[in-house]
Amino acid sequence: MELRVQSPRDLLGIAGCARLGDTIPRRIAFINEKGGSGKTTLVANIAAHLALRRGRRTLAIDMDPQGQLGKVLGLEVRRPRHSAIELLVDSLLGEDFEKTARRGDRDPVSSRLPVTATRIRNLDIIVANKSLALFPSWTGGDPADEESTSRLAERLDTAPNTRDYDFILFDAPPSFGALTLNILRAVDEVVVPVPLTFLGLDGTAEMMRTLEMVRSRYDRPHLELVMVVPMFYRRTRLAREILNKLEDRFSKELSLAVVGFNVKIDEAQSRGLSIIEYAPKDRGAEVMASIAEELDARRRPKDQTRSTDRDTDTEQTMAEQEERYS
Ligand SMILES: Nc1ncnc2c1ncn2[C@@H]1O[C@H](COP(=O)(O)OP(=O)(O)OP(=O)(O)O)[C@@H](O)[C@H]1O
Ligand SMILES: [Mg+2]
Repeated sequence: MELRVQSPRDLLGIAGCARLGDTIPRRIAFINEKGGSGKTTLVANIAAHLALRRGRRTLAIDMDPQGQLGKVLGLEVRRPRHSAIELLVDSLLGEDFEKTARRGDRDPVSSRLPVTATRIRNLDIIVANKSLALFPSWTGGDPADEESTSRLAERLDTAPNTRDYDFILFDAPPSFGALTLNILRAVDEVVVPVPLTFLGLDGTAEMMRTLEMVRSRYDRPHLELVMVVPMFYRRTRLAREILNKLEDRFSKELSLAVVGFNVKIDEAQSRGLSIIEYAPKDRGAEVMASIAEELDARRRPKDQTRSTDRDTDTEQTMAEQEERYS
């Protein structure tokens, strides 16, 4: 059979490679089954920093039916043109994109991820709303069902615009189930925000068990974990003790930056803005920026040899932060 190659793109196609200029995005989930642990706040602000300040092409995907990621970034989520349920349901219902496109129900390019541009350059989002809450009821009652929990991963693996991004960040719902399992099977890295309270720690321990289960059951041994302390506002002895234990037990996984209680973060959200836009010089923006930078740098080999420096840095950073927020 004769191969007709007319352009470098044809050549790449024949080799089964990505398109020219494509990248393989890093897929990072922000998950903690404990509600109110700072997941949405971290995704919105870290995504804004990566896009706005670092020029990283970033996609933030809201996988929580509360739809708060879109809301804190100032987007309409109740009647959006596209939303996250399309990532799971089209294939679940056996819809054929080409056919529906021909019928005129859908855009011909709807096998693409259903992204919406934000006002921040380089930042796209897939918003969510209550419709996403219907997904678990379609899984036949077993939230860990092999087929329905691989929907998101399959969609990301096959969508032509997945490779338009350097980073894909996922905001997870505060519960364990089919949505969370879909996320865990689609990502390579998991950021767990750890509130420094007894219940926060309990939720985190639960999360560790979930991660272990996913690593073994779905054969994902390389799923990486990063822990972030999203709010350090109660400077109690218990909070300090928890932080010390985390530093001992998870010295490699624990992020250097600890976000103190920061009222500007709340203010920014009430205006539908990231803190990076609302108060770029504020300490809250600086800490969010340093967490984003740390995540950005984590994969670089030189940083992986810095484990001893890291402990010292952690000590200094914690001390600095405690002073600031005392
Ligand atoms: N560093 C901070 N300083 C002050 N307030 C914060 C900070 N981080 C988060 N918050 C506030 O705490 C609340 C909970 O945060 P957020 O919604 O990000 O948590 P979540 O884990 O996404 O919650 P859920 O589990 O309900 O989705 C929000 O009102 C948010 O504005
Ligand atoms: Mg949330």
